[in-house]
Amino acid sequence: MNKCIWLLGLSGAGKSSISLELKQILISSGLKCLILDGDLLRKGINSNLGFSEADRFENIRRAAELAKLFLEEGYWVIVAMITPMEAMRENNRQILQNQYVEVFVNTPLEICIERDPKGLYQKVKQLEIQYFTGIDSPFEIPKHAHLTVDTAYLSIEESAKLIFNQVIEN
Ligand code: ADX
Repeated sequence: MNKCIWLLGLSGAGKSSISLELKQILISSGLKCLILDGDLLRKGINSNLGFSEADRFENIRRAAELAKLFLEEGYWVIVAMITPMEAMRENNRQILQNQYVEVFVNTPLEICIERDPKGLYQKVKQLEIQYFTGIDSPFEIPKHAHLTVDTAYLSIEESAKLIFNQVIEN
């Protein structure tokens, strides 16, 4: 059965990079696949939403509902979004049921700050951004993830292969 592979974790954890790599693997296996990336959704369909808890919840709910539509069309869907709270993940489970595969892209905050691919942690430091996840907005450690990928030890390619193997095996 086709699945929605939901990559969650801090900003800078590597979710988007892993999603691109994983998409390539799925496509090379002959599967129809697409990515729903938080950064991109927030530029369009979710451009009216900010980073309050309620807005994040709505942001994630819309992504889950979109994923559901694509699952019904036979696509494999990869979602890359912070998804900071358990309640949001629980709602995903309700919407996507047994097609929901939760993957925690577990990168320590210190490493995300060091990488800072978009220069956002620097902006937080300079007080240009508020309510940033992991700094002054909460991130609950996932309790029910199907899989945790420790990117401190694994490359993007290794992480994507690990996810593919686990999801296909199960
Ligand atoms: S979520 O919390 O609602 O799941 P989402 O994954 O869509 O977040 O968007 C996160 C991206 O928005 C980050 O990778 C970052 O580029 C950007 N961003 C801007 N402001 C914030 C903020 N206050 N907290 C987290 N991410 C932010």
